[in-house]
Amino acid sequence: MSYSKIVATGSFLPKKKLSNTDLEKIFDTSDEWIRTRTGIEQRHIVEDGQSTSDLAYFAALDAIEKSSYDKNDINLIIVATTTPDKIFPSVACAVQRKLGIKNIPAFDVQAVCSGFIYALTTADSFIKSGMYQKILVIGADCMSTITDYTDRSNAILWGDGAGAIILEASEEPGIIKSIINSNGEYEDLLHVPRKPKDNKPNTIEMQGNAVFKIAVNTLDQIVDETLQGTGFSKGDIDWLVPHQANIRILQATAKKLDMTMDKVIVTINKHGNTSAASIPLALNEGITSGRIKKNEIILMEAFGGGFTWGSSLIKV
Ligand code: UT7
Repeated sequence: MSYSKIVATGSFLPKKKLSNTDLEKIFDTSDEWIRTRTGIEQRHIVEDGQSTSDLAYFAALDAIEKSSYDKNDINLIIVATTTPDKIFPSVACAVQRKLGIKNIPAFDVQAVCSGFIYALTTADSFIKSGMYQKILVIGADCMSTITDYTDRSNAILWGDGAGAIILEASEEPGIIKSIINSNGEYEDLLHVPRKPKDNKPNTIEMQGNAVFKIAVNTLDQIVDETLQGTGFSKGDIDWLVPHQANIRILQATAKKLDMTMDKVIVTINKHGNTSAASIPLALNEGITSGRIKKNEIILMEAFGGGFTWGSSLIKV
């Protein structure tokens, strides 16, 4: 049986930054409130004319350059996104075009903030089945394009960016265990309506406090569920690489793992919540900064709209 292993990571963040002080000029808020309640100091925001596939393409190039691969070695592209350039074609097809790769499949996965874990799990299954050997997996989102900047309760959270990995067939794991799950009953707590009222643009509507509580409880349970049957225990985990939704959610998960925050890769202060991009961005930062080292054990976990959630226990 074949396993899969991450062999390269990459990232891309748009140049333009939106600080808490910038937001103070848009609505009634304060840098102090945002830092205390979310851990966010700034986010990166796309320029006019820049789209999700641009971010995804640059993150993919970064990962390909860091690997030993020619782009034509890749035999599948999966992009996790909630903010595609167009309703169709997919961002994955746009990335394929921009990379100039022909005759391979490319498709998007939509599981909002859990999207990267869903895409990784899908790619891992394809490799385990023997169908593909080298898969480009990208998480990319332009959340600023679906943010209502008159709604201070959630406009403070979102940012734009992309992270990419190359997953390769391997004799050893790699991906030790992944979980994906969903519950469609809570749609109204976090969604973007297709036909919003009063001809307003399609923007995120969230009951933040309710989402927060369910996220913390769910992520609490997922830790035990992920470790079950793997032979690994909490103490074996070197790094937590979580979806960056709110620093208080990260702290709660770290506490559940009996982990100090210096073992958690935190990017929310600089990136905000970049939805499907947040885990691969954090993973790339952990690896390129030299903090995450070869053969270390990492737990990645995410919770998001749907509700969807997921986790991956991996050896880098
Ligand atoms: O990644 C996908 C999943 N998403 C999440 O996990 C997001 C989870 N939710 C959250 O991160 C938090 O709920 C928020 C950051 C969105 C909000 O924080 P909160 O601590 O839950 O605030 P709240 O909505 O309960 O509001 C508390 C108070 C309210 O004032 P009163 O009624 O107590 O006087 C709000 O009006 O804070 C006020 N408030 C603000 N004040 C200054 C809400 N937003 C702001 C703001 N600046 N931006």
